[in-house]
Amino acid sequence: MPGTSAPEKTLLVAYQSRSGETLSMCRSVIDGANSVESTRVSVQCSRVVDLTCDHVIGCSAIIVGTPINFGYMSGLMKDFFERIYYDCLDVTVGKPYGVFVKGDTDVDGGLSSIYKIITGLAWKEVAEPVCHVGRVDSEVTQACFELGASVCAGLDFDLY
Ligand SMILES: Cc1cc2nc3c(=O)[nH]c(=O)nc-3n(C[C@H](O)[C@H](O)[C@H](O)COP(=O)(O)O)c2cc1C
Repeated sequence: MPGTSAPEKTLLVAYQSRSGETLSMCRSVIDGANSVESTRVSVQCSRVVDLTCDHVIGCSAIIVGTPINFGYMSGLMKDFFERIYYDCLDVTVGKPYGVFVKGDTDVDGGLSSIYKIITGLAWKEVAEPVCHVGRVDSEVTQACFELGASVCAGLDFDLY
């Protein structure tokens, strides 16, 4: 269309969810990102199993979301990091990122497992993590919305 141009930035929301709770949080992250109504940032959402290092290298910022299983990130999220790690190392330094995690009892160990890997990648955290224990409620829905909105707005305003 005349007068319109393709968005120059991409916010990638990468998640894993088996029984739907983390997916529900992910949908709120997407809603928040889309609420920014940026013409410069396109928002893409994908299960981590469908992502490769090219998606990560090509995005302007990434938000990752996972359930916490056995005190760690979910197996498929770990698989994602294992697949992308060495191809992303050095070429994604400073990549802006956010994270959301969901557990039933305790998410601390799982969150630190993610930080350990991302510290190796040297990405830059640009929003407070959303860490939720228990059923998804209106409070965490709002926190996820704000996570998506703030990272998208940061890209739109060239904050990172
Ligand atoms: C095999 C398994 C292990 C789990 N281990 C933990 C755990 O260590 N800590 C915790 O808080 N929740 C644990 N949970 C609960 C899940 O993290 C929780 O139900 C989460 O909401 C599932 O997300 P999903 O609906 O997106 O798949 C476990 C669930 C499963 C199935």
